[in-house]
Amino acid sequence: MTRAVCPGSFDPVTHGHLDVIERTARVVEHVVVAVGTNMAKNALFTPDERVEMLTEECGRWSNVEVRLFSGLLVDFCAANDIDIISKGLRGTDFGYELQMAQMNRQLTGVDTVFLPTAPQWAFVSSSLVREVATLGGDVMAFLPARIATQTMARIASRNA
Ligand code: PNS
Repeated sequence: MTRAVCPGSFDPVTHGHLDVIERTARVVEHVVVAVGTNMAKNALFTPDERVEMLTEECGRWSNVEVRLFSGLLVDFCAANDIDIISKGLRGTDFGYELQMAQMNRQLTGVDTVFLPTAPQWAFVSSSLVREVATLGGDVMAFLPARIATQTMARIASRNA
């Protein structure tokens, strides 16, 4: 059985992330969405909140599960029998993503596949969504409705 990991911070999960997870789930038998916990202290959502949101959003795909991870991604892959790392690739990501893919392969031999981000989400990132929402912009188009509402509520409570 081919098992892939879709790793990320998912703070918050966007339509772009979900598109990559869905496309990965179509080409491998099992997908583990791995929510990183080595994050900046000013994350909008806690790791557990991000897992809960992703679990709800990924419930429509029977071969996708969501887990927390900490430490090195390659160690998570080894411990969970992961064959391949699957990442969405925007134009601006290429240099850093290539470097991480090569480092991960050097560390344990685990390989990475890149899926080009769907054009409609090519400019969307969690960090830009947080910035736009913090400055009062409308982010409803970039996130599932429930997560957009939670994002705006969290930012409003922070700014209160
Ligand atoms: O959504 P992000 O923030 O781009 O996700 C980055 C993530 C969590 C996938 C990346 O930072 C990662 O793999 N972190 C785990 C630590 C690790 O393995 N570092 C070495 C990378 S070569």
